[in-house]
Amino acid sequence: MTNWQPQARIDLHALQHNLTQVRQRAPGRQIIAVIKADAYGHGLLPVAQALRDQVNMFAVARLHEAVTLREADITTDLLLLEGVNDREELSLATHLNLQLVVHQASQITLLRHTQLRQPVLCWLKVNTGMHRLGLAPAEVDAAIQQLCRCENSQLVGLMTHLANADDPTDASVQQQLNQMVTLGRRHDLPQTIANSAGILHWPASHADWVRPGLMLYGAAPHSAGTISTCRLQPVMTLTAPLLAIRQVQAGDRVGYNGIWQAHQTRRIGVVGIGYGDGYPRNISGDAYVLINQHPARIVGRISMDMLSIDLTDIPAHIGDRTVLWGNGLPTDQVAIWAQTLPYTLFTGVSARVSRHYQ
Ligand SMILES: Cc1ncc(COP(=O)(O)O)c(C=O)c1O
Repeated sequence: MTNWQPQARIDLHALQHNLTQVRQRAPGRQIIAVIKADAYGHGLLPVAQALRDQVNMFAVARLHEAVTLREADITTDLLLLEGVNDREELSLATHLNLQLVVHQASQITLLRHTQLRQPVLCWLKVNTGMHRLGLAPAEVDAAIQQLCRCENSQLVGLMTHLANADDPTDASVQQQLNQMVTLGRRHDLPQTIANSAGILHWPASHADWVRPGLMLYGAAPHSAGTISTCRLQPVMTLTAPLLAIRQVQAGDRVGYNGIWQAHQTRRIGVVGIGYGDGYPRNISGDAYVLINQHPARIVGRISMDMLSIDLTDIPAHIGDRTVLWGNGLPTDQVAIWAQTLPYTLFTGVSARVSRHYQ
C-alpha cells in the first residue's frame, strides 16, 4: 500500500557508523552523546536505546528530557547541560541521578544550602569566550574551592563550549583552548571541550571527554566540510509522496504569489510536504528534491503542506516518493539553500512527520 504521508526514516546503523567516526577522530576519549531536543529531531528514546551501551554518558538540556529517559529505564549516566535553577529542580535531578553543569554562582549557593542525601556529580562550566553560560576563568579557583568544600557536590571536571570551532581557521578557538590549558595546569581535573566541530577540526580540544551532537546524526558542522569529507552517513532521510502531476503552459505561474512562471510547457509535480512539516519555506531557487534518483527542481513557494517540482523529462508517477534530504541529498546542501544549518532542519521536522527506524 502506498504511504501518502511524509516520513523521516532513521537509520540506526548510520548512527553507529558516525559514532565509530567519533571514536576514530578522538581515540581513547570518553564520549558524551548529545541527545537534547529529541535527539536533534531523530527521536530521544530510539536514539538513546541505540547508543546506551556504546557511549559513556548522554547529555540533555532540559529536566523533562532527563525524566523521559529515566522513565524509559535508560540508566546511562546523564548530564544536564543547563544545570538546575531551584530546589525543586535540584531535588528532581538528584532523584534522577543526573550529573549537573554548574555555570553560575547561584547554582553553587543552591547546592550549599540544600540538604541532599548524597553528593551530586558536578561539571564546572567556564566561559572561555562563548559568553553564554559559564564562570569567568578568574572565578574558577574560588568556585572549585566552594564546590570541594560543599558536602552536597562532588566536582567531576571542567567544561567549556567553543563558539567558532566550525571555522577551522578561527584564531579565537585557540584562545579558548589556551584558557583551558592554563586552568588544567592549576587543577588536575578531567576536561570536556569539543562539540562535533571540535572533534572534526581541533584535535587539541579533545581533552578527556568529547561531546558530539550533530556529527552523530550525519551532518557536517557549517563550513567544516561535507558529510563525505567528514566520512559521515546521514541518519535521517526525509521523504514525501508525489500527490499530483499537472501540465502547465507558457506563462502560467505556480503557487502563492506566482513567483515562478513557466516559459514553455512544463510537467509539474506536487509533493506532499511543506513548511508545516519542517521543510524550510525560504528555500532558494536552486533547490531540488530527488525523485527516482533524479534531481527535480523546486518551483514556486513552499506551502504549508505541499511543494511543487519540475518533472519535465523525469520519469515519475503519482505515489512515487521524493527525498527532501538524507540519502543522496545531504542535509548540509539543503541547509545552504535555506540559508540555515542542518541543526535547524533536523530539529524543525514537526511532530506530524512520522519517524521510522531501521
Ligand atoms: C554544551 C554543548 N555541548 C555539545 C553540544 C553538541 O554540539 P554539536 O551538535 O555541534 O556537536 C552542544 C550543542 O549545542 C552543546 O550545547
